[in-house]
Order: sequence, then structure tokens, then C-alpha cells
Amino acid sequence: MATFENFDLAHLGGIELFTPKFEESLHFFRDICAMREVERIGDSAYLRCWDEYQLYTLKLTASDTNGVGRTLYRTTSEEALQRRVKAIEDSGLGHGWREPEVGVGRSYEFEDPDGHLMALYYDTEHYVPDDEDRPALKNQASAYPGRGINARRMDHINYLASDVNAAGEFWRDVMKSRESERVKLDAGGYGAWWFRFHQKSYDVVYSDDWTRQRGRFHHFAIAPDSREDILKAADICLENGIYIEYGPYKHAINQTFFLYVWEPGGNRIEFATAQGRLILDPDWPVVEWSQAERAKGQAWGMKTVPTFHTHGTPFVEHQEEIDRAALEGREFVLPEGDVENE
Ligand SMILES: [Fe+2]
Repeated sequence: MATFENFDLAHLGGIELFTPKFEESLHFFRDICAMREVERIGDSAYLRCWDEYQLYTLKLTASDTNGVGRTLYRTTSEEALQRRVKAIEDSGLGHGWREPEVGVGRSYEFEDPDGHLMALYYDTEHYVPDDEDRPALKNQASAYPGRGINARRMDHINYLASDVNAAGEFWRDVMKSRESERVKLDAGGYGAWWFRFHQKSYDVVYSDDWTRQRGRFHHFAIAPDSREDILKAADICLENGIYIEYGPYKHAINQTFFLYVWEPGGNRIEFATAQGRLILDPDWPVVEWSQAERAKGQAWGMKTVPTFHTHGTPFVEHQEEIDRAALEGREFVLPEGDVENE
């Protein structure tokens, strides 16, 4: 039975992404994805997709490494914010309130059980289009860019976790998100776990990190308008020298149509259509997939690319060689003289 608390979270509000190749990553998001830069502070560029009502959803930060920084989530009301903050405080994972910053009012910072930094907020700054990107219709946040991939909105985030079970239990029991699908391991526990806030079938995902390191990142997904846009995104990435990892193809789990690329900073970015399948039944049960079912591959039978299970950010030592070995179907062997990391 659904409860009111199931709807405390509104949506994924913003992601900070680290890149060691700032200018190249900025070119990818701004010029190839057609996001708009709305603010530049210090080492960070703030970017938005054309149909997002908030000021920004991507904070791109120059760094000596790649990976994900803090993720912001908007609540559905001030009361919902207070409810979830209380639950997070009780869990012992809260860091405390933070002052208002670019685009958002005061926020409550915390970490998930795997150490990913996050914050909840309710007060937000609505984007006001200028003459250059004022839309023709008033029910649209800004003008359709009509260039590149035309990224419409941020869709979901997928974290790598050293312990998917602990992270999933946190999102189910503390954040009160609704499970949509999960992969049950033969040995017990879950290898991946999908959560939704409303009727879109997922907003937050955790996947098992084979390295057992904490706090790493698998990908976030940007939604263009249509499946055709994702096919075109593959052509555009090809023309621009962006590494295509996998797809375009259709997922078995949650049935999204997808394309995975690695942006110039090494982070995996997905283009996905998540609007095709909605979960309307308030009592819809979680869909569980066995390891054997998962191993069958994606919707139409193509096997999942091996790097999907080896590549994450920040890179572990020898990440590129590990990925290459996986693609070539051979075991990665540590270079002579190297000692394996913890
Ligand atoms: Fe995804």
C-alpha cells in the first residue's frame, strides 16, 4: 500500500561532475548536448537543459580527477523536506544545513551509506529566459536549441556502490523512495537496485562496484525528446570523436532506449528515453530479475558491453587498461612491480 511519504522527493535536482579535462567536457555538454551555461564561479560552470524549470542541473567542476560530487534532490514541499531531514538525522548520515547557493535555497547535506555526498532542498530559483532563448509557448522553460543533441532534461543518476544492499535499504527506508526493479544475486542480496519518486520508472539507481571502493559513479542520464534523437545522438557523437560505449539499444530493465558514451573527462553519460513507460499502479510490485535473466543481455538479446561492469569514475589505478582487457575478453594482469590497491 502506498503512503503519503512515498512522494516526499520531487526529482533529481542537480549533479556536480568532476572532470580533469574541463574545456573539452564543457564543449561536450554545452556545444554537443546543447546545454546552456548560466553561471561560472571559480572552477565550476553551471549548465541547464532547455526544458528545465530550474536555473541549472549540471555543475561541471575542473578537478584533477573525474567522478561525481554532490547530488541535489528537490523535495515536494517544505514539510516533506523536514520529514526527510528528520529521518536522515535519525540514520546518523546527516551533515547539517547549508546556506543558500547558486539556484537553490538552504539545503540539508548528507551522505548515503556508500559515502556519496547529497543534499535535499525545497526552495529553488526558477529560470527566467532572456531574449535569446525565450520560448514561443509559455509552457516551456526556454527555446528549443535546435542544435546538437538537444538535451531536454536531466533524467536519472546511477551510482556505483561497494554495498548495493546498504545503499538500497537507505533509499527505501530513509528516503522513502519506491523500488521499481532490482537484480537479485544468486548468493543473496542485490547487484543493482532501481528507485523512483513518482510515475517515471526510475530516478536513482545503485550498481555493484567490483572494485569495492566507496562513492564512485556509474553514469547520469540526459533525456532528449525521442528515440530518434538518441539515434541521431550516436551520429553526432561519432562525428565529434566522443567515445560510444554501448547502444543505441533498448534496456530490458525498465525498457528505456539508451546510448552510453564517455564524455572527454572519462565520465559515462547516457542518453535515454524514460518517458515511454510509466508506472501508474500505486501498488505496483518491485520487479525482480535473477542473475541468469540479467545475463541474457538487453531487451532484444544483445549482451551488455563488458566495460559496463568495469568502467567507473573516479578511475581506479589502471582503469583504462582494465577496460581494454574487458573489451578484448582477457583477464587484466597487473603490470610487473605493481602492488594491488586495497
Ligand atoms: Fe541509466
